[in-house]
Formats: sequence, structure tokens, C-alpha cells
Amino acid sequence: MSGTSLDGLDIALCRLTGTGTETAIELLNFATTPYTEDFKNDVREVFAKREVNQEKLCLLNAYIGSYHAELVLEALSNWNVSPADVDFIASHGQTVYHAPQRLHQQHKYPNATLQIGDGDHLAVKTGILTISDFRQKHIAAGGEGAPLALYGDVMMGNKKDENRILLNIGGIANLTYLPGSGNTSEILCTDIGPGNTLIDAACKRYFNIDFDRDSAIAFKGRVNEQLLSQLPDHPFFREQPPKTTGPELFNLQYLDDAIKRAGVNISNEDIISTLSAFTAESITNFIKAYIPDRNRLLLSGGGAKNRFITKALAEAFPDISINDTSYLGIDPDAKEAILFALLGNEAIAGEPMKIGHNPAVLMGKLSFAL
Ligand SMILES: Nc1ncnc2c1ncn2[C@@H]1O[C@H](COP(=O)(O)OP(=O)(O)OP(=O)(O)O)[C@@H](O)[C@H]1O
Ligand SMILES: [Mg+2]
Repeated sequence: MSGTSLDGLDIALCRLTGTGTETAIELLNFATTPYTEDFKNDVREVFAKREVNQEKLCLLNAYIGSYHAELVLEALSNWNVSPADVDFIASHGQTVYHAPQRLHQQHKYPNATLQIGDGDHLAVKTGILTISDFRQKHIAAGGEGAPLALYGDVMMGNKKDENRILLNIGGIANLTYLPGSGNTSEILCTDIGPGNTLIDAACKRYFNIDFDRDSAIAFKGRVNEQLLSQLPDHPFFREQPPKTTGPELFNLQYLDDAIKRAGVNISNEDIISTLSAFTAESITNFIKAYIPDRNRLLLSGGGAKNRFITKALAEAFPDISINDTSYLGIDPDAKEAILFALLGNEAIAGEPMKIGHNPAVLMGKLSFAL
């Protein structure tokens, strides 16, 4: 898994038994291989941009596939695992553009999304059967291509008589609500708004760092209420879930527009505090509005380490238990990668899963090693 934060490639070595809700998952090894600054800058040339150098995009599609293969081989070698012992790789690829209709607004065109890093390069270079490009099928079957967490969350997180919210704070924040009633028509899986993406972008612009480690800057600054009240002023927040979004919307232009409307001139620290509060507030407001019956909140993603955000969540929901997904025996950093391993397993051995109104489909494309 390589997320929108461009922090690195998450590699989870999983042993899976069974399929669907009967799947047993064992995480044998996990590593996030951080991307080099060079690689990140390369990807940023095409990432979430409406106009790009098409040659660059084409080159990156092959290059990322081959680079991800190298990182997989390196991880396997570190773990003393032979590629011949791996049944398949499930590769998400790198999202370069996510364009649901709600964003592109061109009714002639469907929901669309683009992940690059072609699976054939992974398969040939590693010698391992590769399943990739999961999101197109979800769109073809009527979805927005995201969040795909739904399927794995239902497999891993369902618990009778407990109303659970699985909240992943990656670049974008998304959640899956799993009602204890077991009534699948009540399950909700949706993006909420920004997770780390705005905070990271502002850290890069104002401090030349990748992210606000342990919320050190956010805690130093003060939340600016005028700016905080302008940030959610976008139709995305008024649209009904399920819905999806990305850094195509939540970017520095989005921040600059809000600063302009607020008419404020505030310190760089205050901007980071206010963006952190914006992420926390959009999550808490969403949960209060759409999920009245809740017993337990289970966090994953890099944002689960953002103490400014987790403190705000604890203050907003004093009456519910908040844990990270280790509570389920799932490493919160590895969760998104495990989700794709599960989808890969479904593609190979499973049946389409019917969950409420969501597309019941098997996702992914096969790349053969030979
Ligand atoms: N110690 C920390 N303190 C604060 N923030 C952190 C910390 N560790 C990680 N993060 C945040 O988490 C981000 C990485 O999160 P993650 O890998 O879950 O996102 P992602 O790769 O974009 O995945 P997704 O596809 O779910 O958006 C970093 O960019 C950073 O903002
Ligand atoms: Mg990541």
C-alpha cells in the first residue's frame, strides 16, 4: 500500500486462511519503507495535479511498479522469506488522481480514479503473481473507487452487540461504522475529509518538514477560530455520505482560499494548530451527525499518532472507548496494507460480498510472473 501521504510503501506479509467473513489473518511481518526525497519529488510532479507532463506520468507508471518490486524483494530478503514461498502480491499502486463526479462535475464522465505502478512490473521482477488496480472495478460497479476499507473492515472488525467505528486517519480520514445489530444495511463506509494531508502540506510549506511529529507544532500554536470557521465552508461537507475525496480538493489552494475568506494574518504555528483542529473537528462533527449509536472507536493510520487529534477525539467522546486497532490484533500502521492483502485473497479465492448498498464485486487485475 502506498497512500496519499507519500510517506513510504507499506509492506505486510500476511498468512490468510479461508475467505470472506471466515478469513483468518496472521500478520507475519510488516515494514514501511520510507520513500526518498527524490522519489517523493518525482511523484509530486504528477500527484493530484489537473495538468501534468504526460511523458512523466507514463514513465512513472512503469518506474513505480518496478521500484515497488525492488522494495518488496528487499523486505522479503530482510525477513529471510523466499519469493517462491509467497503466493501473491496485492498491490494498490500509487494514486495520482482521484476524481469522483462530485469533484470533477463533468456529467458526461463517470467517477474516476487513477493508480499507477503497473502490476506487470511487480510480477515479472519478483516472480510473484500480482493482483493490482483494485479501484476501477468498484467504480465500474457503481462506487467511487473508495473507500475500499469497507470489505476488510467487515471481515476484521465486526462484533455482535458492539457499535464500532473503525477510523483510519491517513492522508484523508475515512471510517467504517459496524453496528452491533449485525444489520448490514446500517453499515456506513465513507471518507470524512482531510486526515493528515493539509497538515503535511502546510508543514512542508512553512517548516520544510514532512509532518508535525507528535503534534509538536500544533501544541505550540493556537487555534484561530476565524480560520477554523472558514475551513469547512465547502459543499463536500454538506454532501450526504458515502462520499470520497482527496488532496485534489484538500490542498494548499484550499487553505489559501480559507485564509483569504477569514481575512486573518496568523503565525505558521497557528496555521498548523488550526489545520489539526479542522481535521479533528470534521471527524467529530461527522460522527455526531451520522453515528448516534456508538460504543467503541478504533483508530488506525499515521494520524492515530497525532496526539493533538486523538486528544480532541477523546474530549469530544468522553463516553466511548477509544483504542487503536491493536485492540483487534491489527497493527494500526499495517491495517491499510492488510486490507489489500484481503482483497487480493478474495480476488483469488473468494465470492463477491454483499454489504448493504455497496457494490458486491471481486476487485483487482491479475499479472502473471511468466
Ligand atoms: N508521530 C506522528 N505524529 C504526527 N503525525 C504522524 C506521526 N506519524 C505519522 N503521522 C502522520 O501520518 C501520515 C502517514 O499516514 P498513513 O501512512 O496512514 O497515510 P497514507 O500513506 O496517506 O495512507 P492513506 O491511503 O490511508 O491516506 C504522515 O504523513 C503524518 O502526517
Ligand atoms: Mg502511508
